[in-house]
Amino acid sequence: MTALLTVENLSKRFGGLQAVADVSLTVAPGEICSVIGPNGAGKTTLFNMISGVLRPSGGRMVFDGIDLSSISPWRFAAAGIGRTFQNLALFKHGTVVENILTGRHTHLRSNVLDAVIFFGRTRSEEIAARQRVEHIIEFLEIEHVRDAIVGALSYGQQKRVELARALASEPKILLLDEMVSGMNQEETEDIARFVLDIRDELGITVLMIEHEMRIVMDISDRVHVLNFGRKIAEGTPDRVRHDPAVAEAYLGGQRASPIAKAGS
Ligand SMILES: Nc1ncnc2c1ncn2[C@@H]1O[C@H](COP(=O)(O)OP(=O)(O)O)[C@@H](O)[C@H]1O
Ligand SMILES: [Mg+2]
Repeated sequence: MTALLTVENLSKRFGGLQAVADVSLTVAPGEICSVIGPNGAGKTTLFNMISGVLRPSGGRMVFDGIDLSSISPWRFAAAGIGRTFQNLALFKHGTVVENILTGRHTHLRSNVLDAVIFFGRTRSEEIAARQRVEHIIEFLEIEHVRDAIVGALSYGQQKRVELARALASEPKILLLDEMVSGMNQEETEDIARFVLDIRDELGITVLMIEHEMRIVMDISDRVHVLNFGRKIAEGTPDRVRHDPAVAEAYLGGQRASPIAKAGS
């Protein structure tokens, strides 16, 4: 099996702080993988490197056969890497449709010169974008708020719009950073169902950072565990749940292990 994403000995240093240290992991096509670990473990920093927001201090990332160090970070999205952010990153004054359309910009190949010479092509791209957006709106069941101003929506609905925007770029892999934090039980279950549908119906591979252990245990094929920037465990949800090093990582922070809580 060839991995869709391979991360090898990836590191990120902020001054004296080693936020990510020698992390290696793979994600196979069609997998739902989770990244878990206590606060400050380096999870978001890892995602920032994979999505081109931050340059690694060391290590290697290969995505879909492309060595990511060989392309500009702003091309990562066009290469097929989509993501959501831990804190909502939407245009609050725009409508739902407008916000989702901004996710398409990575996909529009036409530059200004093309637009002047081949006006027809930009028009057909625009039509394709609209169709894609309509499909996503239907898929995520947000037709009833499509023309609403994003800032007026509930937090759970806004998160769903952010998910829609990430899907609009037609990613091959979707990185979700704490999608369900701050959501109630019903909203959380909706998101879990959508993540499964995104994989099963849209064929998109998923790598998600998640604190909510029930969702991790329920829908992940594999779990990667970080602590103090290092990977300390990897395996099926069941295996990770029973790994003493993982329990220790959470207990070491003097917080009750959410892993034990999720075990049932
Ligand atoms: N841009 C940055 N500059 C300096 N330190 C950072 C930056 N981003 C994250 N850190 C630090 O790196 C460590 C890992 O952070 P982060 O990746 O956000 O952890 P997690 O997402 O697992 O909670 C933390 O100690 C955090 O304070
Ligand atoms: Mg984080």
